[in-house]
Amino acid sequence: MASVFVTRAVPGEALERLRRAHEVTVWDGALPPAPAALRAALADAEGLLCLLTERVDGALLDAAPRLRAIANYAVGTDNIDLELTRARGIPVGVTPDVLTEATADLAFALLLAAARRLPEAAAAAREGAWRTWEPGRWLGVEVDGATLGIVGFGRIGRAVARRAEGFRMSVLSSADTDLDHLLAESDFVSLHVPLTPRTRHLIDAAALKRMRRTAILVNTARGGVIDQAALIDALRSGEIAGAAIDVTDPEPPAAGDPIYATPNLLVVPHIGSATRTARERMTELAVENLLAGLDGRPMPHPAP
Ligand code: DGY
Repeated sequence: MASVFVTRAVPGEALERLRRAHEVTVWDGALPPAPAALRAALADAEGLLCLLTERVDGALLDAAPRLRAIANYAVGTDNIDLELTRARGIPVGVTPDVLTEATADLAFALLLAAARRLPEAAAAAREGAWRTWEPGRWLGVEVDGATLGIVGFGRIGRAVARRAEGFRMSVLSSADTDLDHLLAESDFVSLHVPLTPRTRHLIDAAALKRMRRTAILVNTARGGVIDQAALIDALRSGEIAGAAIDVTDPEPPAAGDPIYATPNLLVVPHIGSATRTARERMTELAVENLLAGLDGRPMPHPAP
């Protein structure tokens, strides 16, 4: 039996399988363990099931000398120093596929919400500003037949493209065209790249300037893919028409962050994979990865 630390309660029954095989401790806070608490918790741990809120870096690995398997409860791995885990021979697993459709749904929900100004319209109705049927108020833009630029054409990008077909959109993907052309030609731009040193601030002030003034930017990838200060400027100056983002940099934004006071910016709290089905399946995959890693077998869903 190995000692396993799980950094938060996760949905579903699969943790029971882990408990039957190993000695499992689950952090019971609603918030993630602070780095020092996590280091202390890992002093004797051989397995770690962590979330994207945990930074797995040199300091953490040094504090976890017995660690021999890590299961990330996410498909993204930007919270983990993979070079280091590789160098130390610690396998890392991820949770691909099971969250693809949920995340693509959210990207499309954000696109539609921004296009049709749902947050403002819903707030107006709730605040008593729905006085009559108004021909010229809360006017949005048509999604039907518009051009959607998809940056990152992996599993989730392709799932968004499938949804776009139903809206008769023309899809431009970064797999087929360069970013400048995609940004200049798209009515909507949706981001689906992992966060790496190459993609950090891929959408910076210059990229935002290339977009249409009528364009809407959607981000369900990672906050760091956008230069957030540049996005706020672009929205304030009307350089682009709107944005809808599920991810920010940092997460969560501090209270009073200008992101909450920026016009035409819809922010939701990183809920791309937040369906019960997706989250339960993520638990299953994370447990399968950890069981295999602790057994010395190849993880079924290794980090790329
Ligand atoms: C991921 O898996 O990387 C998402 O951001 C959370 O589900």
